[in-house]
Amino acid sequence: MKKFKDDFIFSTSTCSFQIEGGRSLGGRNDSIWDKFTKENFYIPEPGEAAREINSIETASDFYHRYKEDSKIMKHMGVNGFTYNMDWARIMPNDSGIPNEEGIKFYENVFKELIKNGVKPIPILYHWDTPLWLEELGGASDRIFIEHFRQFVKIVFERLGKYTDIWYVNDENSTFTVSSYLQKYSPPLKSNKREFWSALHNLNLSGAICKKEFLAAQESGFIKRDAILGIDHDWSPAVPYDKEDLDDLESCKIFDEYHMNMFLDPNMLGEYPKCFWEEIKKDNVEDIIQKGDMELLKKYTLDLIGWNYYRPTIIASPKRMKEKIEWFNDPGFFITKKAWIVYPKSERYTDWKWLIKPEYLVPGSEKLYSRYKKPLMIIENGMGYFDERINGVVNDKYRIDFLNEHLMQVQKAISEGIPFIGYSLWTYCDIFSPSGGYRKKYGLVGVDFENKTLNRYPKSSFFWYKNVIEQKSTIQEGIDYNKYFNEAKNDYKNSQIWNK
Ligand code: BG6
Repeated sequence: MKKFKDDFIFSTSTCSFQIEGGRSLGGRNDSIWDKFTKENFYIPEPGEAAREINSIETASDFYHRYKEDSKIMKHMGVNGFTYNMDWARIMPNDSGIPNEEGIKFYENVFKELIKNGVKPIPILYHWDTPLWLEELGGASDRIFIEHFRQFVKIVFERLGKYTDIWYVNDENSTFTVSSYLQKYSPPLKSNKREFWSALHNLNLSGAICKKEFLAAQESGFIKRDAILGIDHDWSPAVPYDKEDLDDLESCKIFDEYHMNMFLDPNMLGEYPKCFWEEIKKDNVEDIIQKGDMELLKKYTLDLIGWNYYRPTIIASPKRMKEKIEWFNDPGFFITKKAWIVYPKSERYTDWKWLIKPEYLVPGSEKLYSRYKKPLMIIENGMGYFDERINGVVNDKYRIDFLNEHLMQVQKAISEGIPFIGYSLWTYCDIFSPSGGYRKKYGLVGVDFENKTLNRYPKSSFFWYKNVIEQKSTIQEGIDYNKYFNEAKNDYKNSQIWNK
């Protein structure tokens, strides 16, 4: 397989409310995630792969440790860091006037990253609506759009010069479904009108953001060749039985709902048929106002960030009558048309997330053939219970997971798919919305257990370092011991790790 090109972006991704901490510092006010985690604190039994809702007041303390983290990133060898800026830190109230301390914080982070050879790749919004804005109506109210415009305008003007790759939203799908239909994440709603409104408002915000982006380019705040994308988590449909026409039809429906529904508006400037059918069925067609569709059409985005953790195995509803031996879970509003199933024969993580890297290539082909825009993986990672031995973690399972997935990216590139980079989830252990601090994703460990938040390496850190140096994945015979020994020695000898 061909090596990655010299300008390929090897990055790690994370998210401010999951890593940053400093929630009440620097002139910041709460977001909906602060409120949610304070009010729903819950710690399950040790070792249980269950949801933990813990305090994010300190999280991984990136707020105070970004300088040492930037050095660790340099040591890892990455040339990118994807990170969302916390809206509530930059705009702590509805005055439209930014918090200078908040801007300064991100300016310092960006400068520090750049000093260490790491390109900041900002995401503007990752589910964390400022609380003051939620109180005015939040994402399901059109007021959201104007406040978002003010926020991005300030960010582009003040921070635009530091980078040339930007993303507007992270996972409109997860956010709208789990926060406006399933009551799983804040603001804990279950209301179809609010769901469709939030989705449409986020799409309009994407278009408005592009408008501001172009204006900032015109005024010289952002480089001419800079690009603005959207980050979407689509888990491509895989038929339970690939010979079964009904299963195949259900897959088609699933992808229309999960890929086209969320990407068409900001990539093609239009909604797919299923969107119009659903809003009609739910009697909420009035959410589309005069001029909205023209706005979407005029300001489409330049690239797709794709969060690929797993595909979704889909069965047609007829199988629900069969005596099934796998456990199943209905997809949200397409329950009657497609079912998500979890065959026992498949590989899963500790959190029962399917492991199937081979669907990354067909998925990227679908994305590219429909949208004809460059792609970048923005999230791909393995949440697991890690065990720390001699100060480090020998996470062979994570190396396997990441290497297999990155190999698929390499394969996709060989087949002509324009991937510009790969950003894995995540740089260090952080707060996970579904697993708290017990579900580890990091290549760098964070000592939450002893509350020191000290950083330490895992074997996977040295796997990634090696891949970046070689500009290729390990094609066969991964030498896990080598990475484990490197982690142990480096932890012992290098000043970069806190002990
Ligand atoms: C993505 C989110 O959907 O999945 C992240 O953008 C999240 O915020 C990641 O951390 C993994 O999910 P979880 O719940 O396992 O942490």
